[in-house]
Amino acid sequence: MATDRQATARAHSNIAFIKYWGNVDDDLRLPANPSISMNLDALYTETTVTWDDSLSADMLRLNDQPESGGALERVSRHLDIVRQRLNISASARVASRNNFPMGAGIASSASAFAALTLAAVTAGGATLSERELTTLARRGSGSASRSIPAGFVQWEAGIDHETSYAHSVAAPEHWDLTDIVAIVSADHKAVGSTHGHTSAGTSDLQAGRLRGASARLEAVRQAIASRDFRAFAETVEHDSNLMHAVMMTSRPPLFYWHPASLTLMGAVRQWRAEGLDVCYTLDAGPNVHCICTTAHAPEVRRRLEALDIAAEGMIDILQAGVGGGAQVLD
Ligand code: PMV
Repeated sequence: MATDRQATARAHSNIAFIKYWGNVDDDLRLPANPSISMNLDALYTETTVTWDDSLSADMLRLNDQPESGGALERVSRHLDIVRQRLNISASARVASRNNFPMGAGIASSASAFAALTLAAVTAGGATLSERELTTLARRGSGSASRSIPAGFVQWEAGIDHETSYAHSVAAPEHWDLTDIVAIVSADHKAVGSTHGHTSAGTSDLQAGRLRGASARLEAVRQAIASRDFRAFAETVEHDSNLMHAVMMTSRPPLFYWHPASLTLMGAVRQWRAEGLDVCYTLDAGPNVHCICTTAHAPEVRRRLEALDIAAEGMIDILQAGVGGGAQVLD
């Protein structure tokens, strides 16, 4: 097929309300449970892929820096999957850029592998269904499958490559939510999620977490459908706590929370008791995502900024509304 072609794609990061933690197949990244998330409009990755017959190996630039080693290897392995699907033999030049600070502790793998997948497929001259794009993106990073469709997105666990796909359950305009991210640490994660997933099964609590996952997902899906913030908040916080309980009880244990994370979680619960529509959720790191209605976002942000926890490490605040799906840029 024709090579030496180029395309650029943009994909947003996402925050999960029902978390993905643990795989039934690590290579295919088939998750142990379904998950649901919203895309984050203000946080995205833009990636340009150029298939080039004259290259002897893939090349990667990340935020204008040439990369070798682990980052390049992971991108190259993902390109292998696209090469195989599209029957391409060329190597690729990949240039990727996040619009959010790399060192902020915000996971970039979801937006990165969603943008990489869409750019690589488009540059290869193919137009695949959204569903298939989500399955390909999943192979790079599970959560990347949820950054392909728009708005509020559910990733079906599935039983094989084709059935483990993501789809939109509501458009971005359906519910005006905001994620205010309290950045507690800019440190690079000690244990990344790819490795973390492999240890989930070592916790005695994982079986219990999985048993209730589908029911929690259904509760969150219903709460999104009816824009019921109170029902949404209770289940979202509970699901985050369950995932972190699994992490903390894995062998060896994974402790992602910092003292400031706990302070913020307590504050958010207090604010909700006082009437604010806000709840927390934490990924594989100490940063606290404060999910709120956009109407209450200014007050949540004001209270966050008024908290005197700088000494404990709150260093920055990022803010995003509900984002669209991955798109090809001109
Ligand atoms: O896609 P990964 O391998 O980075 O895993 C994401 C794991 C969590 O962010 C902790 C949860 C989730 O569902 O996004």
